[in-house]
Amino acid sequence: MIAPKYHIFVCTSCRINGTQQGFCYQKKSVDLVRKFMQEIDDRELSSECMVTNTGCFGICDKGPICVVYPEGIWYKNLDEEAVERICEEHLEGGVPVKDYRI
Ligand code: FES
Repeated sequence: MIAPKYHIFVCTSCRINGTQQGFCYQKKSVDLVRKFMQEIDDRELSSECMVTNTGCFGICDKGPICVVYPEGIWYKNLDEEAVERICEEHLEGGVPVKDYRI
């Protein structure tokens, strides 16, 4: 893969010691990483989208959180429906999803 068109960073509350604790992890954000990967694969966007799990963004009360680059758009309160909409409207359609933006 060359540089992806979109890079999605999903907080899974990863700590520097390798453990996963914290709000986003407790809110099943690891499942949301899998959901992003599945949706991207189903939509045949794998050649232009990359998903990476990250540590805390510091706004845990709004989690689960993801950030989509190159725009640097932050999304909050993620669930499976939010992931589907971000994939359809933002990654496929090029229009960020207002309902989940911070
Ligand atoms: S644990 Fe996800 S933003 Fe803090």
